[in-house]
Amino acid sequence: MVRLWVWLAVVMVILNSHSAVADNDGIALKKVDFDTTITARQRGAETVVGVCLMCHSLKYVKFGDLAGIGMSPEKIQSLLTDQQFADPLLSLTPLAVRKESFGTEPPDLSLMVVARKRGPQYIYTLLTSFYIDETGRTNNYLFPGVKMPDMLGYSLTAEGSAERAQVEAQIRDAVSFLMWAADPNADERREMGVYVIVYLIVLTILLYLMKRRAWRRVR
Ligand code: HEC
Repeated sequence: MVRLWVWLAVVMVILNSHSAVADNDGIALKKVDFDTTITARQRGAETVVGVCLMCHSLKYVKFGDLAGIGMSPEKIQSLLTDQQFADPLLSLTPLAVRKESFGTEPPDLSLMVVARKRGPQYIYTLLTSFYIDETGRTNNYLFPGVKMPDMLGYSLTAEGSAERAQVEAQIRDAVSFLMWAADPNADERREMGVYVIVYLIVLTILLYLMKRRAWRRVR
């Protein structure tokens, strides 16, 4: 029986090892816990559609997919300008205009959380690193010279103020939505994983008991 427990312990350690977070290349990303409930993701979706879509697209997400975070058809309808449910979340500004305005193409955000190392923390830190320099221009500590404006006005809020906390919460929710967007089936898969593990543990115990019975007769 002892050996069985040792094996189970080894299996648990292996299953847990993926949660160790890879180190970042010396950039101090903020440690932040994301609220991954569907209400937080819905709030995030509103920010992303209402603000980020001015410049960015999420070409792999369709408006209809937002039902996956519990949005009702009426709610989704309220986010549409002149798109349809089957349309992807494309930027409302023509590409040429965006390129002209920023001198670069704002990257697609569908897979941004996996495109950057420690993506969620990276995006959160990026959006909460805007500041106003001595010359009165907006800059960014994490990405000096970034061509994206401080759209949520983080740099205009005072440290420790209620306004700043509000902007931070809005950014957290937007990132939570982007995490879902990059991998819409992750929750289902995680749930399935739990069933599979429980099944395997029960199976291991049953097989162990069967083996013991079989060998008892041999002895
Ligand atoms: C007014 C236009 C505009 C809006 C609105 C905007 N962005 Fe951007 N964003 C840009 C541009 C331009 C870049 C490219 C920056 C560069 O390469 O210097 C960018 C880059 C980024 C990047 C990539 C940074 C990197 O590491 O390359 C992320 C992440 C990002 N934006 C997130 C967001 C999110 C989230 C929102 C909504 C809250 C948002 N952006 C709203 C213009 C915008």
